[in-house]
Amino acid sequence: MDADITLTVNGATVRFVGDPLTRLLDVLRGQLGLTGAKEGCGEGECGACTVWLDDEPVCACLVPMLQLEGRVVRTVEGLASARLTALQQAFVSEGAVQCGACTPGMLMSAEALLVREPRPTEAAIRTHLAGNVCRCTGYQAIVRAVQRAAVKPTRAPAARPRVGAKPTVKAPRANSAPAKKRRPRRSPR
Ligand code: FES
Ligand code: FES
Repeated sequence: MDADITLTVNGATVRFVGDPLTRLLDVLRGQLGLTGAKEGCGEGECGACTVWLDDEPVCACLVPMLQLEGRVVRTVEGLASARLTALQQAFVSEGAVQCGACTPGMLMSAEALLVREPRPTEAAIRTHLAGNVCRCTGYQAIVRAVQRAAVKPTRAPAARPRVGAKPTVKAPRANSAPAKKRRPRRSPR
């Protein structure tokens, strides 16, 4: 039986009608055109699909739509408005982006850390980002970018529903595993 789910994505109300096991990642990328979150492993190991669910970073590849009634999702597209956030600018300034596949997930994870802990230690940054894999940068530039952003006062504004269009998405049926807690895979070097 189809699920009929209403949630908020980047401040807009979204109605989803479809297979309740459809993955949030597929709805974001395939139905809503929000392609910032990437699919790497598809099983909660790489962090490339990280988005915020009620202001907590989660792997969108592990979240079935049935869990999202009334919930608030924010993707990397919802981080900045007219200008880059301090963290995004720091990624640019420090050269923390190479192929970019990990970058949206890194940003969402790191921004969540900075919201909770505005002056994290290097060890705290490395521990927090342990679930986000980067194949290109060697992590040093990413850690420096988070440190650079930490001294800036501006943070991403809180996710807030806004009055606006209510897109309805219909998803094809798809097999999907239920959400599980994301576990760090390894520490950034
Ligand atoms: S795609 Fe790798 S954690 Fe979701
Ligand atoms: S920049 Fe390529 S995987 Fe991180």
